[in-house]
Amino acid sequence: MSNNKTGFGTRTGFALAAAGSAIGLGNLWGFPYKVSANGGSAYLFVYIACILLLGAVAMTAEFSLGRFGRANTVSTFKKLSPKLGWAGLLAVLIPFLIMCYYYVLGGFSLKFALNSFAGNKGNFHSFAGNYGDVILHSFLFAFIAFIIVAAGVRKGIERTAKILMPTVIFFLILIAMVSLTLGEGVSEGIAYYLRPDFSQLNASSVLSAMGQAFFSLSLGCGVMIAYGSYSGEKVSITGATAAVCIIDVVITFLMGFAVFPAVFHYSAVTGISLSELGLGSFGLMFVTMSMVFEDIPYIGNIISLLFFSMAAIAAVTSVISLLEVVTQFIIQRYRVFRSRAALFISLICFLLSIPVAFSLGSSLNGTETVSLFGHNLFEYLDITTNTLLMPLCALMSCVAASKLIKRGGALSRGYFPVMVKFITPALIIVIEIFGIIDLIAPGGSFSAGGCGIVVTALVLVALCIAVYFGFFEKQRTGCNEDELKIDAEEAVRRKTGLPRGWSRPESEGEHEKR
Ligand code: PFF
Repeated sequence: MSNNKTGFGTRTGFALAAAGSAIGLGNLWGFPYKVSANGGSAYLFVYIACILLLGAVAMTAEFSLGRFGRANTVSTFKKLSPKLGWAGLLAVLIPFLIMCYYYVLGGFSLKFALNSFAGNKGNFHSFAGNYGDVILHSFLFAFIAFIIVAAGVRKGIERTAKILMPTVIFFLILIAMVSLTLGEGVSEGIAYYLRPDFSQLNASSVLSAMGQAFFSLSLGCGVMIAYGSYSGEKVSITGATAAVCIIDVVITFLMGFAVFPAVFHYSAVTGISLSELGLGSFGLMFVTMSMVFEDIPYIGNIISLLFFSMAAIAAVTSVISLLEVVTQFIIQRYRVFRSRAALFISLICFLLSIPVAFSLGSSLNGTETVSLFGHNLFEYLDITTNTLLMPLCALMSCVAASKLIKRGGALSRGYFPVMVKFITPALIIVIEIFGIIDLIAPGGSFSAGGCGIVVTALVLVALCIAVYFGFFEKQRTGCNEDELKIDAEEAVRRKTGLPRGWSRPESEGEHEKR
């Protein structure tokens, strides 16, 4: 599978692909239960503040870096300063780690969508404990992502986003409309969502909102750098950032209207208390919403199908961006074909997602579980990436973008330089320090588990630094143009009958000249 042109073909395609990456299970599954646990719309305010002060700035920084580098994340950071290249490697490692648990969640969504007519009610724990089923659906999910990424940026990622993003928005509007018209309990649900309870906000809610903003906007993990590297010169970076942030906030906000009125209605008609329904828990989307849909007369199954299909589709458009970051690096560094690189990474992440599925399933079912530092592997990877590594990587993007500004250009004017050099990094550092304290000593008492997670993150960062300076600093790590060259070389090989194999690596000098 080869494409004769790398890069997005249109501005809309680029914006939709970036929005597709941003809108995913973070918005649909993560946000509703976090908003419940952290004071309703009080959390929404903090989340929007994080998007404005941190997310929008970091996204502009990442798009600009990508546009400047026109290469994978390692080469991009390296091009700005050879000392910063390790951050590019961190930006490859993070999506790799996220994929290992995102496949499991994607598999859940797929299973629940396919099962809508057979009924999902009460199925979550038994499904999570039916490992064969989970692995099969994670595999299907990973396979779909592989096919799209293997088809290329324009023919795969862009085309998919153009079709699927409007579908997600359409489905969500329909579901919210149904939820808002269910009758009894709906107004209480809306009030619960929109009435802010600031007393429930604390340092860890702010940290959670920042993590949520980064995760939801796909920042701090190379995605927006990789997508920016494929954007056309005519794309306005600030325009695209504004579009993605607005779409993300609107979808997140709408999701509250899809969930809370329906759950409150269900509670009102069945008499099941809200605390039993686990509003602020992990199972809100899969457990509670399945019960809620099953109870809606006539159209319940259809709404369930729309809801979980929307989740599965949103998860696909997100996971392809994760896969693309790692694929781009492998193609360019090792000069392999796109389809082979994508297949290789998909297989490894799928294999690694199997223990994650076991660990999550057994922990949900309260049986003996594979755990690390007191957390099941799902939580462990989630906290390590979301709370620690992604903010660090976003911080490094701000540092790199500050260097970029020195070279002039549109972003060196206005408020952006002050934000990216001082305010956003300072906020990230402060919130990160609170986050680390909260992990090591939650509520003032020492937590060995939290400490273990912090150590894990430090080890991973040290590993990236060591591998980068050991293997990549002095070596050529490629750029986007290489993909075209690899394809051209393959065409020649086919004509001349040369043996199949990896292409001749260029010398470092050749790359530096470009
Ligand atoms: N933004 C996606 C979501 O909200 O589910 C998740 C995600 C995708 C995170 C891509 C990070 C990323 F690079």
